[in-house]
Amino acid sequence: MDNTPKTLVVYFSHSGNTKRIADKIAAAVGADTARIETTVPYTGSMNEVSAQGKKEVEAGYKPKIRPLSADPAGYERIVVGTPTWWYTMAPAVLTFLSSTDLSGKKVIFYMTNAGWPGDVIRDMIAAAPGAEIVSTKEILFDSAGGNNMITPENEIDNWIASWK
Ligand SMILES: Cc1cc2nc3c(=O)[nH]c(=O)nc-3n(C[C@H](O)[C@H](O)[C@H](O)COP(=O)(O)O)c2cc1C
Repeated sequence: MDNTPKTLVVYFSHSGNTKRIADKIAAAVGADTARIETTVPYTGSMNEVSAQGKKEVEAGYKPKIRPLSADPAGYERIVVGTPTWWYTMAPAVLTFLSSTDLSGKKVIFYMTNAGWPGDVIRDMIAAAPGAEIVSTKEILFDSAGGNNMITPENEIDNWIASWK
């Protein structure tokens, strides 16, 4: 019998790193995925997106997001992934957590970062009152903001195995 709780991986990803981890988790656990997308996409150079992100984080701005492809209400366990944006979660993930009731659900938070992790996980936990936090993970990518993962692949495998 398969006792794996029905699991949904919800993530935001601008340049692919957080998506890569979401897909890895989904494959390992047999979970569904749902990508958070803002109604107005982030466009422009990395510097432009970085500057826009800074303004949004500093203002506590919650951008409008599209309806998710799956409803978290139908899942027992929710994994939420975000890139680090200016020492916290990406604004679109704040929108998701602020507008979704995760109380009573098993929740796993992970974030990707480029070496200045800030308080992402603490902020995510604070934005999900009543959730049962099962596990959290910080995953390091290269400091230039690129797609090279520094955290060893087997560390991610072991982390997933520890709660899956
Ligand atoms: C707007 C913006 C702000 C960022 N702020 C941080 C930061 O505060 N700390 C950090 O370590 N990395 C920061 N980064 C780098 C990303 O967190 C990192 O490259 C991440 O893995 C990107 O994930 P993604 O490919 O899923 O978008 C920032 C990137 C962007 C675009």
